[in-house]
Amino acid sequence: MSKSTFPDRDQLDMNPPAQLAAIQAATETLGFDMPSIPQTGALLRALAASKPAARVLELGTGTGIATCWLLDGLDDRGRLVTVEIDPVVQQLAKIDLGYDARINFVEEDAVAFMQHAPKSAFDLIFADALPGKFSELDDALSLLAGDGIYVVDDLLPQDNWPQGHASKVPVFIENMMSRPELTVEHWEWASGILLARKSGA
Ligand SMILES: C[S@@+](CC[C@H](N)C(=O)[O-])C[C@H]1O[C@@H](n2cnc3c(N)ncnc32)[C@H](O)[C@@H]1O
Repeated sequence: MSKSTFPDRDQLDMNPPAQLAAIQAATETLGFDMPSIPQTGALLRALAASKPAARVLELGTGTGIATCWLLDGLDDRGRLVTVEIDPVVQQLAKIDLGYDARINFVEEDAVAFMQHAPKSAFDLIFADALPGKFSELDDALSLLAGDGIYVVDDLLPQDNWPQGHASKVPVFIENMMSRPELTVEHWEWASGILLARKSGA
């Protein structure tokens, strides 16, 4: 069977959100080198779209790439809180997405945010900063509602990983797999995805 009959699925048009091209261009100009890739974005959009009036949390806005995909999936009653410690990168997200009343930009250390945020308040958490993923994992999971979904990417080796980071990944995956309240899927797909559903509503 020829390759052209079944093209690489990763190369198919993913119908990206309208603001994505502008955010990507600004991201490149700034030199921000940790953006989510389109496959992650498309997955996040589907997850955000899967629940009416979804309450979504993103830890690590960056320049707003995943934020933009998440917003594209949310319905009118959905809400997205996105937390970022660096106001310079988050400002890029605000430029293109700040008009949207469904989003709340929080400029704060995610560690502090997770301590004061209401427990079980989110249906979907995209944990895309070190805290909430490789540290403060209990805090992040405490914010997830019953039947909620926690998702991370970048579990496959990345060029920009700092020294010593690689060894944290299997520890994180094993930790997630060991939790009886979670149903975990781990895919060596895209940048490396782990998705966990918390039991009980
Ligand atoms: C992988 S990038 C986020 C990429 C973004 N979500 C996207 O889709 O392109 C991680 C982000 O987490 C932010 N960050 C790092 N430590 C943080 C902390 N303690 N609290 C909040 N944000 C943090 C970084 O400034 C960076 O923008």
